[in-house]
Amino acid sequence: MSDNALSSCRAFVFDAYGTLFDVGSAVARLRDSVGDEADRLSALWRQKQLEYTWLRSLMGDFADFWTVTGDALDYAMDQTGKKDPVLRAKLMETYLSLDTFPEVVETLNSLKAKGHKLAILSNGAKHMLISAAKSSGILALFDQIICVDDLKTYKPHPNVYQLAADKLELQPAEISFQSSNGWDIAGAGHFGFRTAWINRTQQPKERLSHDADVILGGLDELLPLIGEPQGA
Ligand code: LAC
Repeated sequence: MSDNALSSCRAFVFDAYGTLFDVGSAVARLRDSVGDEADRLSALWRQKQLEYTWLRSLMGDFADFWTVTGDALDYAMDQTGKKDPVLRAKLMETYLSLDTFPEVVETLNSLKAKGHKLAILSNGAKHMLISAAKSSGILALFDQIICVDDLKTYKPHPNVYQLAADKLELQPAEISFQSSNGWDIAGAGHFGFRTAWINRTQQPKERLSHDADVILGGLDELLPLIGEPQGA
C-alpha cells in the first residue's frame, strides 16, 4: 500500500444512492411496464429527486427522502406522459430493494474482514436505507447508518457531514468519504473529509471548490489504497 490521502483514515463512510445502490435499477426492472421513455423517466426522476432535496434545504422546508422521491417520480411521470398509479407504486416499492453495483458487496466484505469501521451517510430516510441494505445483504457490515431525518437538511450542507464526524467521534480528516456524486464529493471535501470519487461513468469533474483526493473507477479500487485499520 502506498502512502496516500486515505491510508491513515479511521473510518470509511459511503454515500448510498448512486454509490452503493444503482438508482437506475428501479426503472430497469420495470422497463417493459414503463415502455418507451424509460431512460428519460429514470434520469428525470433522479434529477428532480436531487433538485428537490437542495431546494427544500434552501427553503427551510424539509420533507423526508421518501416524500421527495415520490414527488420527483410524480414530476417525471407527468413530464413523460405516464400517469399510472399502479406503476408509480411499483416503482416506489422497487426503491426499497435497489440493486447494488457489481463490486459493492465484495468490496464492503473485504473492508469489514480487515476490521475497518464502515458507515453510510445518506440523504435517504432511515427506513429506505435499512430496507435496501438488508435486501442486498450488506446491512450487517455497517457500524452505523447515518441519515438526515433528525437534522432536517440535506447534503451538501456542512451540518450533515458534521453529523457523521460527531456520530463516529472522529475528526473530519480521519474520515474517508466515498461517493459517485461529484457534488457530494465537493461538499464532503469542503467540510474537511478525505474523499474518493467513485466515477464509474467518466463524468467530467464538477467546477466547485473542492476536488476529490482520489478518483476511482469502482469501489474495489479502494482496497489497494487502504492498509490495516488505524488506531484499532
Ligand atoms: C444519498 C443520495 C443523495 O445521499 O445519493 O444517498
